[in-house]
Amino acid sequence: MKSWMRRLRALAVLGSFAILLAGCGKENLTAMIPKGYGAEQSMDLIILTTVVMSFVFLVVITLLITVLIRFRKKKDEEVRNPKQVEGSVLLEIVWTSIPIILVLIMAVPTVMAEFHLADDSDSEEHMNINVTANQYWWHFEYDEDEIATSQDLYIPVGEKVYIHLLSNDVIHSFWVPSLSGKLDANPENTNTFFIEAYEEGIYYGKCAELCGPSHSLMDFKVIVLSEEDFDQWKDDMKSFDPDQLELDSVAQEGRDLYEENSCMNCHAIGDNSTDIGPNLTNFGNRENFAGYLDPTKEELVRWIMDPDEVKEDNKMKNPGYPEFEKEEAEKIAEYLLQLKPTSVTPDNASK
Ligand code: CUA
Repeated sequence: MKSWMRRLRALAVLGSFAILLAGCGKENLTAMIPKGYGAEQSMDLIILTTVVMSFVFLVVITLLITVLIRFRKKKDEEVRNPKQVEGSVLLEIVWTSIPIILVLIMAVPTVMAEFHLADDSDSEEHMNINVTANQYWWHFEYDEDEIATSQDLYIPVGEKVYIHLLSNDVIHSFWVPSLSGKLDANPENTNTFFIEAYEEGIYYGKCAELCGPSHSLMDFKVIVLSEEDFDQWKDDMKSFDPDQLELDSVAQEGRDLYEENSCMNCHAIGDNSTDIGPNLTNFGNRENFAGYLDPTKEELVRWIMDPDEVKEDNKMKNPGYPEFEKEEAEKIAEYLLQLKPTSVTPDNASK
């Protein structure tokens, strides 16, 4: 095969891969379809930089092609040196200032957007949520209402919500591509920015900083509800008393096992007494658990019996972690799945 044909074929394969992979994103896990204020700002910057870079590319490629064609050595023509422009002050000024201007066109709006998103001077007038990142899960605390959740972050639509980010161990990064850019969660200083969702829905969040073997499983969800649904959810969460829960006999046994094995030392239910492990108050309403598993009894049993097999390097199996029999794990799973403090679930957001 001729070499140009081989090259053409390689190009065609690569090109089709590019088209194929471009369709891989989920609608609620892409910065390309902004559904919130921060993501919209990012999109504007992406468009601006793409326009600037395309302009540079077009100018350079046009000049290159023109030069290649016009100044080609013709047959029988003598080799001659072009006019030398070395030391031309005018040219030096032109090709130094053009890149500076282009960089400024991109940098000024970018820096302004960064400062704007991190400006928390009006945070007292809005909702504030303390977010703590842990290897490999997320803790959300609604200070004013004294409620806490893990993994599923509930917020109302169309409202500015301030996120105050901290880490309990290593550096993580909070990223909900459809709603906002990334922000690091550091162990020592709180980073703050706000998110604002334009539409109700379930948005996928990711940890965007390599933080250990299960970094890629450190997923979470943002559940964006209507104002009424959110208020309902908040009231239900606030008034939930796990002791009043009507459980069937299996779940009741599960609760006893939960208590006997001191699970509540790390996992709070119905309050915010500990945040060593994920808060399980609304576990039965969760979209996923362990970041990526469907909350079914089978998966839960697998998790309770051998968390390491499900999510490498997670901190659940501390030195005092009990060896559960399958039957015990099933009972505990049954109990956890019946923890449904509210009728407002992620389904309300995706309706
Ligand atoms: Cu946390 Cu990656």
